[in-house]
This record gives sequence, structure tokens and C-alpha cells, in this order.
Amino acid sequence: MIVNKLIKHFENLKNSAMSSARMSETASAARRAAAEGIVMLENKNNTLPLKRNARISVFGRCQIDYNIGGTGSGGMVNTPYTVNILDGLREKEFEVNENLANTYQDWIKNNPVEIDKNVWASQPHCRAELEVTPDVAKSAAEFSDTAIIVIGRTAGEEQDNSDKEGSYRLNNEEHKMLENIRREFKRVIVLLNTSNIIDMSWVSKYGIDAVLYIWQGGQEGGRAAADVLSGDVCPSGRLTDTIAADYTDYPTSKNFGGIHRNYYAEDIYVGYRYFETFAADKVLYPFGYGLSYTDFELKISNTNINQNNIEFDVLVKNVGKASGTEVVQIYLIPPEDGIDKPTVKLIDFAKSWLLHSGETEVLHFSVPLSQLAVFDEDKAAWITERGRYRITASKNVRDLSECFVYNCEKTKVIKQCKHNLMPHLPFKRICRKNGQQAYDDALLKTYNIEDRIAGSLPASMNITGDKGYKFSDVCRGNVSVREFVAQLSVDDLTALIHGEGMNSQKVRAGTGAAFGGMTEGLKKYGIPIAAATDGPSGLRLDNGDKATAIPIGTALASTWNKQLVEDLYTCVGGEMLPANIDLLLGPGLNIHRDPLCGRNFEYYSEDPLISGVMAAAAINGLQRAGVDGTLKHFAVNNQEENRKRVASIVSERAMREIYLKGLEYALEMSDVHALMTSYNPLNGHWCASNYELIHEVIREEFGFRGMIMTDWWADMDGESDSAPSKTNKAGMIRAGGDIYMVVRDIESIEGENNIKQALDNNALTLGELQEAAINIIELLIRLRKK
Ligand code: BGC
Repeated sequence: MIVNKLIKHFENLKNSAMSSARMSETASAARRAAAEGIVMLENKNNTLPLKRNARISVFGRCQIDYNIGGTGSGGMVNTPYTVNILDGLREKEFEVNENLANTYQDWIKNNPVEIDKNVWASQPHCRAELEVTPDVAKSAAEFSDTAIIVIGRTAGEEQDNSDKEGSYRLNNEEHKMLENIRREFKRVIVLLNTSNIIDMSWVSKYGIDAVLYIWQGGQEGGRAAADVLSGDVCPSGRLTDTIAADYTDYPTSKNFGGIHRNYYAEDIYVGYRYFETFAADKVLYPFGYGLSYTDFELKISNTNINQNNIEFDVLVKNVGKASGTEVVQIYLIPPEDGIDKPTVKLIDFAKSWLLHSGETEVLHFSVPLSQLAVFDEDKAAWITERGRYRITASKNVRDLSECFVYNCEKTKVIKQCKHNLMPHLPFKRICRKNGQQAYDDALLKTYNIEDRIAGSLPASMNITGDKGYKFSDVCRGNVSVREFVAQLSVDDLTALIHGEGMNSQKVRAGTGAAFGGMTEGLKKYGIPIAAATDGPSGLRLDNGDKATAIPIGTALASTWNKQLVEDLYTCVGGEMLPANIDLLLGPGLNIHRDPLCGRNFEYYSEDPLISGVMAAAAINGLQRAGVDGTLKHFAVNNQEENRKRVASIVSERAMREIYLKGLEYALEMSDVHALMTSYNPLNGHWCASNYELIHEVIREEFGFRGMIMTDWWADMDGESDSAPSKTNKAGMIRAGGDIYMVVRDIESIEGENNIKQALDNNALTLGELQEAAINIIELLIRLRKK
């Protein structure tokens, strides 16, 4: 007895030692990623890096109240510790103005941020600041001539930003702080500890010397910021979104935030695709922009075009004094005639090694010719048009001079599709006519989905009842998944297509969902139970268990370093294994359609390529650790206001070129096994039950064979426009979805689903239900086999 207890005790010790070693590995990877994701937008007169022993006065409460991540499910990580900016700076060889630091510490103690933990997502976007009066600024300036100001913002699930002071814009207190500090200090550095880009008009107004988006860098964010300020890390982050002069310059600003419906009138002209084509003068900082402590020269050589790819080398040379890394961005400048299209498109990118002064590296690129393609809405086909294409090696979307030309001789259809996801309501959308911005009518739906469904129902298998085949027999390859699933009764199948959560007792405490063999009926076949939890910024464990908070998605994408992101997620996976979590509910790769979306922090970019590449890197990293991830949320979950109900009306072309393109890239670059649909209706149907989205495009066209889950407590409808409900599981299955997330108790789902009625009324076939079960079992096999 005592011996057993001792053994258990030592096992626990070993596990906790193992997991704290794992956590510190994740923390180092997170620090590196947070530092590489920092984007330096200004650095006048080489204000940075700070010299050793520099004297600095640090302002702004977020130097201490550092925002590690955004709010809601994608940010709820219980960290073992957080290193804030003040402490990060103190760890370097700087002389910090400790009087000022103490003033802040005391003030924060007396002015805490009241957050009602019982109210979901109640964190304020912006927190009250200590008043930096002219006297406060003056007395601090007696200590140092360099000031660092930290400005913080947060946003998140169900909390969009607004184009108001204290959210997208600075508020009065912050303006006063900048004004008074600017007056007294020789050098002013501003750090933006924000979840997304904000209005930047104050930079020129106050003549700020250095400005850096340090984003929300996870628990090591303060150290990462200090790494860059001190020059230990040379900044190499680049913007993944365009920063415009004013919010109203964004083409989405007029049709974002509607409570009931949003028309995607900007169409394919999202982010830089819009600005570079129609409104270059409205841009403050272009897509891909970011400064370094050194300088690089890029030279293209060895160009070669074969049947499938455009091959070339880019020689990167560090021509500055400091050591650093460069992001090489490859843009396509297509011919102007033919189908209207943006003037420029990102088609590839890579990051160099750390290059010392004078060193060079040759990066090889092999860009598929399919990157030239545009979606021809009349033909429902991807085509490459004849004409003269320029391909560049650039430092940002404006730097297009280093390039070569590819002449495409003939217009070619490279992929014939079926029309899908066409809008059901008319609207005008932006297009380009004679080089100018114009509007045309979006093409409307021309086909009948019910006919398509009827024509592609899978065959049903006769229910064989228990033939003695166990889950382990399928894993060993002794029985096929189909034979195994054929044993399951309708009750078993119905239970299998439900996940249980949050905090199901059937898996480790504090997770988002349990799914798999949760009922007695399913257990007898030996079907295991899997655990899934949020999310993209580290493990969310609602029982209070600790995990490492990594930088937000936007920060990770700003590194433009897919290997680093992959390695970081391998570390996250390393934390999932001992915590008995099989599936991460992330990464998220919705497009940054508008800078006010509250969940932009979880996502990567306004550009689908960088979104897809980063999502694939996260999945590859998790799988390397022996666990898996879930790409979410499909599709067009671009607004948090009324997110469960607000309808998106989008053209087929924008769906394919922008909103589903990131997913298409991610599926090409990684072996994805799980996806999550979104809450909102899209072109007339709720995404969780949208046949065109799930069955037609994701499964048939993209060839996705994994498991598709709903978002938590999603609504679903049917093809004949039935009202949305949480019980219409038949609508989800018919659309090609597999599992409903989540019910509170798997044993009492009788009144929570319509499977039996739908089978009786021929609104669902047994074959469709069995297909969903097959997808779930196949995912469980993968999760167990690792
Ligand atoms: C979010 C998902 C999340 C799920 C589980 C939902 O509210 O939209 O992203 O994975 O909750 O926490």
C-alpha cells in the first residue's frame, strides 16, 4: 500500500517535472516568436536600439498591466507567470526610472481594472491611465531623455472594436500623455500592446521617434519587447495588414458591423488588394512593411519557368551594420486587361537566416503557375490569362522594382468548378473598370441545391448490429471503418455525432469538449473518448490548470516565419500530450476583413496566402508532437457583433479568392483532419448546415476528408429555408457536417436533436448519418494511433 503510494508520488513528481520542463521549452519558443513578430514602423535617427545602460522612463499602465492576449475563448490561458514590459526591461542592462515605476505600481494598485468574472468578455478595450501632467513628465525627464510609452488595447470574442476613442482611436488621456511627454523628452518610443492595428494619425502629430507594434505577446511578451529594444534581437516583423490613414478609408468601413446583414460590397478588394489598386495615397504603412536595425539588398537570379512552376533564386545580402533577418516577399503584378483584378498579389514569401553584416543567403522559390489564376465567375473556373506578368522580390507591397517578366502565351482553364456559394440577394460590389474603381452587380444564384443533394446521396449500409468488431480491430486494420460503423444503431450514431461540454466530466477537467465513445452503447465497441480544447494562444483549461500563453495569431503571422510557428506549435502539442488533450480548437484563419473585428487577434492577416501558410505551420507543428488541431471558423466569421445571427452576403468570387482561399492553401500544405464551421449564415444558410460550403466546396472541391464540427451551440437550418435551431442536427449532417458541439449531457439528447424524425421523413438518409460517423471514427483512429 505504502509502496504503491510512493510509486504514485514519484510518478506525479516525474510528470510535473516533465511538464514544467515542457512549459519552459514552450516559453522560450514563445519569447522568440513574440520578438520576431514585433513590427517596427518608425525609428528616426536610430533611436533604437537603446544603448547599454541607457536611462529610460516608462509610461502607460500596460507596462505593468501587460495584455498577454485577446479576450474570449482564444485568450483564456492560465499562465504560470507573465513577464510584463517593465520587468522585461529591468532584466536588461538599462537604468529604469524606478521612481516613475513605483508611481505606476502604486497607482495601479489603487486603480485596479474591475472585471466581472461572471460576465463573458467584459474586459474593457482600454483601461484608465495615470494622468501624465506636464509636471509628471517634467520630473521624469530629469531622470532620462528617453521615454517609452506603452499603449494597450484589447478586444475579442463578442467584443468588436469601434472607431471611437478608447478603442480604435486614442482617447483624451492618451493624447495628453503623448503631448506632455513629447514636450519634455528628447526621444519618445511608443509600444503598442494591442490585439489589432489601431489608428496611427498621432505618430506624425506628435513626431514620435520610434513606434513598434509589440502586439500581445503571450506570457513572455515583456521579455520579447526588451529583446528588440535592446538590440539583442533585430526587428524582422512585417505588417500582415495595411494601415490606412483613417478607419473610413477601409473599403469595408461602410458595410461592417451591421446587426442583421452585411453585404461584402468591397468584394475581392480586401486590404492591400483595395489600397494598392484604388487608394494608394490613403495608406500610412503598407502591407508587408516593417523596419530593421540593418538593411538588405535583394537580387533575383536563375529564373526558369517549367510546366508547373516559376523557379528563381533571390540573393539576400545584409548591406547594413547590424546582424538581422529579412523577409523576402514575392508579389505578382498581373496584366491589366482581361478579368478585373487587383494590381498586386502576394504569391510567396520566405525569411532569411540571421545574416551578419556583409553576409548573403540564396533563397530558392518555386511558385506554382496556379498562383497566376483568377476565378472567372461567368465560367465558374480558375483561369490563367494570357499576358505579361511581373514577379517581384520585395520588402513590402510597395517595393516592386526588383522583378522579372513572365509572358503567358495562352489563356487556360486550370480548374473547372461548379458554381457554388453564389449570393441569393442582389448587391453592388466594387470592381475595376478602365483602371478606375467602379461598381457592378454581384452574380446571383442560378441553381437548385435540392437537386444537387438528391443526386449525390451516399449509399446506406444495412445496420448489422454487434458483430464483435472493436475499435482496436479497425486500428489494427483487421476490419474496415465501414464494417465497424455498420454495427452501430441509429441511437449509437446519434450519440456519436454529439460532443459534450464545456467541462465534460468524461475527459480531463476544464476542456471545451469530449467526443467519441461516451455512451454505454458506444463504449462496448471500445470507441475511445477524445478531448478538445481552445485554442490558438495556448491551452485553455477552465479548471485553473496552467499552460503557456503564446503570442496572438497576428503576432505569429507578423514573423513571416513558418518554421518558427511550426516549432512553437510542436511545443504547444508537447503540453497537450501530458494534459490528455487530443485536439486543439485552433488555429483560426478568418480573414482580417476589417480592422475592427474583435477576433482579428486570433487570426493572421488580410491576405489568404499568409493565413493559409501560418495555419498549415500550426497544424504541422501539432502533428509533429503527436496531437492535432482544428482549422476554424468557416466561413466569413469576420464580425463579433451579433456573431450568431448576422448574415453575410458575399460573391462567389470573393468566397473563393479571399475567404476560402486560406483554407485551400492550408489543406494543400498540411494534412488537416478537423475543421470548425462558424455561427453566421452565409448567402442564405447557416454555415453549420450550409451544403454548398461544406459538401460542395470543402469536401467535393477541396477534397477534405476529415471531421467537421460546429462551433459551440451553433444554429442550423435546412435547405428548404426552415428556421434556424440548435436541434436541427439533420441539417448539419445533410450539409456534410459531422459533429455538433456541444450538448451538456450526452445521455439526454433525445429532445435536442431531430435525427429520427428526419430519417422517418426522408429528410436524411442512414447513409449520410453513417458517413458522419465514419469521419468521426477516422479522426479518433488518427488521434489514438499517434
Ligand atoms: C468560439 C470557438 C471556440 C468555442 C469553444 C466558441 O464560442 O467561437 O472559437 O473554439 O467557443 O470554446
